Amino acid sequence: MVLTHLKLHRFRNYDSLDIDFDPKLNLILGKNGTGKSNLAEAIFYLSLARSWRTSEDRLLVKEGEEVATIEAAIQEGPLNRSVSIELSKSHKRIAVNGKNVRRLSELSALTNVICFSPGDVPLFMGSPGVRRNFLDVSLAKSSLDYFTLIARYDRLLRERNAALKEASPNLGLLDVLTEQMIEVSLPLIRLRALYVNEINRVLPGILNALKGPGSSGTLVYRPFVKGDENFTENARAAFKKALESDLKHRTTSVGPHREDLSFLLNGKDLADYGSQGENRMAVLSLKLAPYFLIEDPEKKPILVLDDVASELDETHTKNLFAFIKTLGQVFVTATEIQTPDAAVIDVSEGKATRRK
Ligand SMILES: Nc1ncnc2c1ncn2[C@@H]1O[C@H](COP(=O)(O)OP(=O)(O)OP(=O)(O)O)[C@@H](O)[C@H]1O
Ligand SMILES: [Mg+2]
Repeated sequence: MVLTHLKLHRFRNYDSLDIDFDPKLNLILGKNGTGKSNLAEAIFYLSLARSWRTSEDRLLVKEGEEVATIEAAIQEGPLNRSVSIELSKSHKRIAVNGKNVRRLSELSALTNVICFSPGDVPLFMGSPGVRRNFLDVSLAKSSLDYFTLIARYDRLLRERNAALKEASPNLGLLDVLTEQMIEVSLPLIRLRALYVNEINRVLPGILNALKGPGSSGTLVYRPFVKGDENFTENARAAFKKALESDLKHRTTSVGPHREDLSFLLNGKDLADYGSQGENRMAVLSLKLAPYFLIEDPEKKPILVLDDVASELDETHTKNLFAFIKTLGQVFVTATEIQTPDAAVIDVSEGKATRRK
């Protein structure tokens, strides 16, 4: 996919912006606090109607204004689409080719944007919830089944936790909910395991390009119970074993919502051994992996890499640029980078212009 044209109106620090982009590498350059990440954020917003920096849409509206709009022209092979989003503190309206889109899952299929931002670097240093969220978001984008399953599982989990919080919990009801959760869990953890396998298939190629030959990386997923033919039996046993503690702590302590991921870089656990730069490289390669899982070149996602090169030494920066020049449309923000064969967008104080 290629974002050919973008118009912003009262979005963050942009009063109005109207700009064309290159189908390959776009460098968004400017001093600190000028609006580079804001521009990257607007591009990413086209994919999930959500920012990676905040869950509050009102913060995306220019201070002192009521409504912000993002309008985009997207090319997918011979197809041209227009996407327009209007947002305020009270509403969000999304239209594709002038027709309203109600389900956000539809939007991400039409404008798929992968984003890397500095906030992703500690993915393996922080709490498991962040890693599950990474898995859920990337999987939900690639599988509508997963989207439905995770929503169902979350609903059952909320019901079970509510039942556990009753003054005297109804054990019969807990049993019913547990059975339903187990039923949803099997396809859920199988999809997770499959997806992690897929990622591991493309990860070595990306890491070798970024870090040099001989680097290895593996994403490790350990389901709460193995998804084999004994799953139901073993899952029942796991829930039964946890029941006493669940009743005491009034919350569900086992299940897919408590699983975690780890990353082995050259055989060592990134969380325990990884340097700052290694964490950055590993997380970047992981974020880029879904790009390689989409086979159709016309459907390849747009990549938005915010501040990706900071903290990288010269060799790694060189590797990075050599690599991303082989990909489709990429947006990179930086304070200063010199690399030939790229379109440059100069940003200063809420204005962005394409360098001639
Ligand atoms: N809703 C808003 N209305 C007006 N200005 C805003 C709004 N939200 C953020 N800003 C301002 O936008 C400016 C630019 O932010 P942005 O994060 O894009 O900077 P940047 O160019 O990425 O800087 P850095 O190089 O430090 O990452 C900031 O000064 C911020 O205060
Ligand atoms: Mg920034």
